[in-house]
Amino acid sequence: MAGRPEPIIFILNGPNLNLLGTREPDIYGHHTLEDISHSVGERAAALSLAIDFRQSNHEGQLIDWVQEAAPLASGLIINAAGYTHTSIALRDALASLSMPSVEVHLSNIHARETFRHRSLIAPVVTGQIAGFGAQGYILALEVIAAMLSANS
Ligand code: DQA
Repeated sequence: MAGRPEPIIFILNGPNLNLLGTREPDIYGHHTLEDISHSVGERAAALSLAIDFRQSNHEGQLIDWVQEAAPLASGLIINAAGYTHTSIALRDALASLSMPSVEVHLSNIHARETFRHRSLIAPVVTGQIAGFGAQGYILALEVIAAMLSANS
């Protein structure tokens, strides 16, 4: 018997996150993006959620994916990487969403260089998780799952 389709959570990753594992491991850890995708996928399955996990180095591609999420997804997690601090266009795309959205950073951006303290996207997402490494993606998924079940 076919059950209800699992809600889809888009998980978007911005520039240079494809290099995780070898990129500044003292800051970003040793997990690759594939490792993160795998562990988030396992947690999602346990929460009866489906994930669509993507990475791009291009601002416009990330914006296209946010727009694609709007009619399809029930929640969105984004590590916008360097675009967090620069992209008004990405902020505008995120502002148009009406689903729960969580900004994730592996590192604690508030404890790093001053230019990383400001997130242009923070005011338009539901909340921000920073400084817990790869675990931050799992925390974001869990909070979205809790919000969706509270609303169902
Ligand atoms: C990052 C923090 C950003 O400042 C940086 O540009 C990144 C990764 C993080 O996950 O800690 O690329 O988003």
